[in-house]
Amino acid sequence: MIKILIAEANLETRVGLKKLLLTAPALPGKGIEIVGEAEGVNEVEGLVAKLSPDIILISTNLKDIGGVEVSCKIAQAFPLSNVIIISEHPLSHDELKKAMLSGVRSFLVQPIDLQELHKVIEEISALDAHRRENLPVSPVSVPIIKPKIIAMFGAKGGVGRTLISTNLAVAMVESLKSQNKKIALIDLDLQFGDIAIMLNLTPTKTIVGLSREINELGNIDEELLESYLVKYRDNLAVLPAPLKPEEADLIRAEHIERILDLIKNRYYYTIIDCSRTLSESILVALGMADTIILLLTLDIPTIKNAKLSLEVMEKLGFSPKIKIVLNRAYTKMGISIAEVKEALASPIMELIPSDGRVAIPSVNEGIPFVIKYPKSNISKSIKSLAEKILESPDKIKPKKWWK
Ligand SMILES: Nc1ncnc2c1ncn2[C@@H]1O[C@H](COP(=O)(O)OP(=O)(O)O)[C@@H](O)[C@H]1O
Ligand SMILES: [Mg+2]
Repeated sequence: MIKILIAEANLETRVGLKKLLLTAPALPGKGIEIVGEAEGVNEVEGLVAKLSPDIILISTNLKDIGGVEVSCKIAQAFPLSNVIIISEHPLSHDELKKAMLSGVRSFLVQPIDLQELHKVIEEISALDAHRRENLPVSPVSVPIIKPKIIAMFGAKGGVGRTLISTNLAVAMVESLKSQNKKIALIDLDLQFGDIAIMLNLTPTKTIVGLSREINELGNIDEELLESYLVKYRDNLAVLPAPLKPEEADLIRAEHIERILDLIKNRYYYTIIDCSRTLSESILVALGMADTIILLLTLDIPTIKNAKLSLEVMEKLGFSPKIKIVLNRAYTKMGISIAEVKEALASPIMELIPSDGRVAIPSVNEGIPFVIKYPKSNISKSIKSLAEKILESPDKIKPKKWWK
């Protein structure tokens, strides 16, 4: 039997593909068995390890994150299985090169032609017997990375960006502990960044040095990037802000772009603590983010600035990825949550209570409250936010692609 795993986000499409495979004419001396189905990358990881399929048919529309890049990662991670990419469009020259170098066996463009699919499976199965004999016993494990950037933005100082982003990062690492997934936390409050203080770190290397390296070398590689990250605890790496405010001017948007590009492929999630200004660097970060958390408190100036920021972000096309988080909610501030909702015309993702007795000692000691006071309500709200972020699936438009 040739064991096939189907990785495709859309149920209807999966059913269609199954039918196609099962009605295919028999291969000489071999049958086809569909051993599993997956909707997203995480599932693929688990199922491949469990079922060791001969062939993984992987669509570029996977649930957590699609694209050719992910298929390449899967091919690299599981060299014992043969990966066939199914895509909506023919691959570009670059994508094709990448796919082939990663060990992707073949690719098919939808709508899938039965004969073509059959031929590819036949060829792979013929080559496979020989290939497997020559592979090492235990395949090298390359993590499959689901690049997600979360930018924490608030159009006013003191709304809690640093407090929330540090605690969120720690909560996400905790939640992903069993999966051993890594998170990066980047301080882009370039003048007055205080992630290092809130985490009680005393960095010697910061984002300024990394930007200088980019100037000098024209580019940086992953090893150099890693040498600038400070390890906070297992699986949480921090890129600190400059130690002096005047150094902020040395960091340009192109540096941010390069750094984020590199980091997002190495870390499961990247969380950015943004400064409150819509500078060019921050706009690049917001543009590259998958989710923008607009953090606000219940006071008129903050809400006014949030509204102005939303208008700018709407013009830039960022609206679909903006989520509102209300900090220091519940206290009697003279403005209700409903009024905020109405003023901003946006849904609220999470409410974070105000709790000075938890927040202030935690800030002063440099120990995130999710560690120091895990049972407090404020910690519970951060954990809830972390779960929502980790669960949020990408919206996928179902589409028929088989004939
Ligand atoms: N939910 C909260 N409960 C109590 N205090 C808070 C809360 N959020 C923020 N604070 C206080 O506000 C201060 C400023 O927060 P910070 O994260 O540094 O703001 P920002 O980074 O947006 O400028 C914190 O040091 C903390 O004392
Ligand atoms: Mg801050």
